Amino acid sequence: MKLLLKGGRIVDPANNTDEIYDILIRAGKVERIGKKLGKEQREYDLSGKAVLPGLIDLHTHLREPGREDTETIASGTAAAAHGGFTTVCAMPNTNPPIDSVSGVKYVLTTSSQEGKIGVLPVGAITKNRKGKALTEIGKMSNAGIVAISDDGDGVMNSRVMRRAMEYSKMFGIILISHCEDHDLSKEGMINEGITSTKMGLKGIPSQAEVIMVARDIALAGLTGCRLHLAHITTSRSVDLIRDAKNRGVNVTAEVTPHHITLTEKDINAYNTNCKVNPPLRTEKDRRALISGLKDGTIDCISTDHAPHLDTEKEREFALSPFGMTGLETAFPLAMQELVRSNKLTLSKLVEKMSANPASILKKSGIGRIEKGLDANITVIDTELEKEINKEFFLSKSKNSPFKGKKLKGFPILTLYRGRIAFKDEKVFS
Ligand code: DOR
Repeated sequence: MKLLLKGGRIVDPANNTDEIYDILIRAGKVERIGKKLGKEQREYDLSGKAVLPGLIDLHTHLREPGREDTETIASGTAAAAHGGFTTVCAMPNTNPPIDSVSGVKYVLTTSSQEGKIGVLPVGAITKNRKGKALTEIGKMSNAGIVAISDDGDGVMNSRVMRRAMEYSKMFGIILISHCEDHDLSKEGMINEGITSTKMGLKGIPSQAEVIMVARDIALAGLTGCRLHLAHITTSRSVDLIRDAKNRGVNVTAEVTPHHITLTEKDINAYNTNCKVNPPLRTEKDRRALISGLKDGTIDCISTDHAPHLDTEKEREFALSPFGMTGLETAFPLAMQELVRSNKLTLSKLVEKMSANPASILKKSGIGRIEKGLDANITVIDTELEKEINKEFFLSKSKNSPFKGKKLKGFPILTLYRGRIAFKDEKVFS
């Protein structure tokens, strides 16, 4: 069955395209891209809409296996499609963690049966994510992992990290580092500074991140591995990454939508939905992250989608878990903060949310719209406004500080391999 996407503005930085075209899709693949490709029985008029390569998230917590009450592969991928994503990398801090071939196979099989979009598994660096003994990185990469990470926790032992980098290089996968010195961050809840003092909450100094960014850059220089730094939050980290890139170190980095839109001040009413790790930082840091995105120091925007139940979040600040959901608000937040305020063009934003994540993963079949490739396509109505409330979310968890806010610029159609993974029924009624 053919599907025709008519008259949308294709924004595809990997192919240097920003122009109005039709796209003809057949058997899940892009068959033709051109002007006025005629009529089809199944067609969508997308005039005035932006047509992007499906968004790619390098950092998603799908929680399956183990915490299916908060998210499953089925619900998490439905939320991802709702947010315009067609590929997500599933972090291994599940219960049990994905630290063996059988775990990797479980994620791959379940996502192929129940997933709405593509799921690329990430394996743990160390067994049980304890930071001590390495996992069977080679066997897991043969089974299909695209990266290794102990995300949620840093790897404190530099010798273990060095060996992990050597293995990741040997097997051609990336190492995603959660940069946190746990001795420094211990018992901390929010950024250390005036706000933490005023609120009476124990702080996490920015140095807990900076020290590990510096160490991992040094180890990447030593080992030559492809190092990707997760959820960068401090101005000093951005400087270190900029310098490392100038010296030719093989390092890439991401920021989250929340760290570029919120600061520690947003926690003011002890809002546990603002409790994230690494914590929201200062206005100076927030601006430095955006400068990093602008000058290319920061390669991509990743969600760190971290679902938690209301019953877990509605506790004292100290007892509430770290994390907020992100897949469904990432694109409108980035549009608002970066594109509508003229800091990045729409094409640059698509680079950060699709083309660059694909090239970091070294996957040439995603992150672009091209004849012969899978039709992974996201259609955005840049003018569509929605109020974020509980009903808005397809994720099983609703722990978002953006509830009650109005955002603009939402996906209205997400195609994964030519099939509809999400469609806004109000728009296409
Ligand atoms: O806030 C966070 N939540 N940061 C992490 O690194 C882990 C995540 C989670 O898994 O909940």
